[in-house]
Amino acid sequence: MQTRVTEMLGIEIPIVQAPMGWIARSQLASAVSIAGGLGIIETSSGQLDVIKDEIAAMRELTDKPWGVNVAQLFIRDLDGLIEFLLENKVGFVTTSAGDPAVVAPTLKEAGVTVFHVVPTIRGAEKAADAGVDGFVIEGIEGGGFKNAKGASSLVLVPEIAARFPELPIIAAGGFTDGPSMAAAFALGADGVQMGTRMVASVESPIHDNWKQSIVAGKETDTVLVKGAIGPAMRTLRTEKTAQVNEEHGSVSLDIDDMMGTYFGGDMESGVAMSGQVQGRIHSVEPVADILRAAWNDCQSILTELGARTAASTSK
Ligand SMILES: Cc1cc2nc3c(=O)[nH]c(=O)nc-3n(C[C@H](O)[C@H](O)[C@H](O)COP(=O)(O)O)c2cc1C
Repeated sequence: MQTRVTEMLGIEIPIVQAPMGWIARSQLASAVSIAGGLGIIETSSGQLDVIKDEIAAMRELTDKPWGVNVAQLFIRDLDGLIEFLLENKVGFVTTSAGDPAVVAPTLKEAGVTVFHVVPTIRGAEKAADAGVDGFVIEGIEGGGFKNAKGASSLVLVPEIAARFPELPIIAAGGFTDGPSMAAAFALGADGVQMGTRMVASVESPIHDNWKQSIVAGKETDTVLVKGAIGPAMRTLRTEKTAQVNEEHGSVSLDIDDMMGTYFGGDMESGVAMSGQVQGRIHSVEPVADILRAAWNDCQSILTELGARTAASTSK
């Protein structure tokens, strides 16, 4: 089965691995691309020198397609990064956390395929006006940075699909397996992006305590908190994030505290961004198994639904 996303990005499986600060680097992204999906390298960590090395590493690790997320708000030298991406012939970019009109036109002029990350219908209108090639639609149930007033994938995807039938959609927020993926296609998406599921993969570089917190976490164990910088974010409910949430304060994103969680495994040190879908993730799996199972199950479900509908209409 081909979709507009598999055709446009030259991939076999319409599953994109979410850009996630410090996590979406070459170890994880290359595993996703090699497995037939699309790996994405993050820039939201702001560590551009490291990111440039990670981009170089991708070239060594795979000849399959992959992309880069340009998290506009978190990048000090935006022009320098864009120049680097063009020099290195990066073919696919998702832009986020900023005005799509600022970078999309330059990238598009150079022949790069650009999808903008949109959390609202208004955001989709602005991105379409900026001439993007497609959308990543972020439902509020997903992990990570979010528009605090956001809506769920179930609300956003079909409405944006109806308003912009010519633009392909990658649905993000709540997707982890065949049933959720099949639902995305029914809503009008052409592919899905998985964040939380990818954090809890064997190839994800973060501490095992975080992976196990996703496996153990219930769907109700996340909170949407304000960050000291940038938009709101959905994180694992810990003592610290629950308290911030209750007090309507904002959570510090001190780098040492964050690294204490990411690589030190102290779940109270920083914040562990995680989506509600953690309640549906029950084991840490290799990326190739996650992608293959989700795509096979999705296709079986769509075929079965089609057959069931055909049988009932012929009665
Ligand atoms: C740990 C984590 C970090 C994230 N960091 C970023 C980021 O740096 N930039 C970004 O655009 N989205 C970020 N996100 C959001 C993801 O890109 C993705 O849209 C979201 O995880 C999808 O929802 P899901 O968690 O239900 O799969 C992050 C998500 C997680 C779980």
